Amino acid sequence: MKVPLLDLKAQHRSIRESVVAKVLELADAQLFILGKPVEELETRIAELSHARFGVGVASGTDALLLPLKALDLKPGDEVITSPFTFFASAGAIHNAGARPVFADIDPVTFNIDPAAVEAAITPRTRAIMPVHLFGQMAAMERLGPLAARHGIPLLEDAAQAIGARRRVDGAWRAAGELGAVTGFSFFPSKNLGGWGDGGMVVANDERIAARVRSLRTHGGLQMYHHDEVGTNSRLDALQAVVLLAKLPHLAAWSAARRANAARYGELLRGLSAVRAPVTDPANEHIFHQYVIEADRRDELQAHLKAKDIGCAVYYPLALHLQPCFRYLGYREGAFPVSEAATRRVLALPVYPELSQAEQQYVAETIRGFYGT
Ligand SMILES: Cc1ncc(COP(=O)(O)O)c(C=O)c1O
Repeated sequence: MKVPLLDLKAQHRSIRESVVAKVLELADAQLFILGKPVEELETRIAELSHARFGVGVASGTDALLLPLKALDLKPGDEVITSPFTFFASAGAIHNAGARPVFADIDPVTFNIDPAAVEAAITPRTRAIMPVHLFGQMAAMERLGPLAARHGIPLLEDAAQAIGARRRVDGAWRAAGELGAVTGFSFFPSKNLGGWGDGGMVVANDERIAARVRSLRTHGGLQMYHHDEVGTNSRLDALQAVVLLAKLPHLAAWSAARRANAARYGELLRGLSAVRAPVTDPANEHIFHQYVIEADRRDELQAHLKAKDIGCAVYYPLALHLQPCFRYLGYREGAFPVSEAATRRVLALPVYPELSQAEQQYVAETIRGFYGT
């Protein structure tokens, strides 16, 4: 049996007619840049995130970079984020002209540890960027008051967490609701993925939303008039029509991922070499990735690959140890929880269309490797 890490063709088969019809409509209209579909998607994603404004941009990376640029960061200004995340989180901070400062993660959820964030705050800290890693939200109820006490904004990296929720003071709060500004990614493999790159900024701060809207069109809202130097980071109408056609399915897809995660929990129960992912009881996880921690991780990965099972290491090298960030002066051992995670994590297939038989094969193959 062959089980890929992700099977986008299976998803496409299930919605092909409705998506292709919308794409053909757009082909006939020949209106490709921004326009109505992008505006509608901005409204829908803002609604989903319980945020006031949505601004479609060219990628999830730009959905972090442009809000950071809107903060008018100066050389030496610091933005705190996790060292255990996709590169773009810290890359965007660097490219916005600030210094990435890392704070270690919680060993259970892999999300940034608010106590570590607090310890990393200095007079140069201009923002905190929690990453809702693998699809569950960071401890926003602790990070929000911390940021407020220091008079700095929270910028949520929700690239992996569209539609995720967290109970705060008895109420469900969506990814994108509590931060001043939030970036989502529509990279094809995301829970809501386009047919290419795409991203969305949602914001509750009107001034930041307006700045991002201007920055995505070269820093001017009026053609050929530029208040500042921005860039070209528009979301294609093609991506917007695909994403609008997929959006009604998102909640069911994420629920199917949760069901798959629960099934793995049963199938892997009692296997002491493997720690299944833990959902913080306050969270509704969307399982963008199902990430186990495993003894002899590299050998297990090779074994699964040899048995035609897709799996991947997110992430093999913590960001403070990346060659490009050597200038920040961090050494190995600076963030032990993140570093330990890079040696033990392994993502297994969890996509919505995964069958029970396929899951059983994955679990049996893991058990076979450990001889239990
Ligand atoms: C945590 C995180 N931040 C940012 C990004 C960047 O998104 P994109 O690939 O759409 O530029 C990603 C995408 O993989 C991500 O996982």
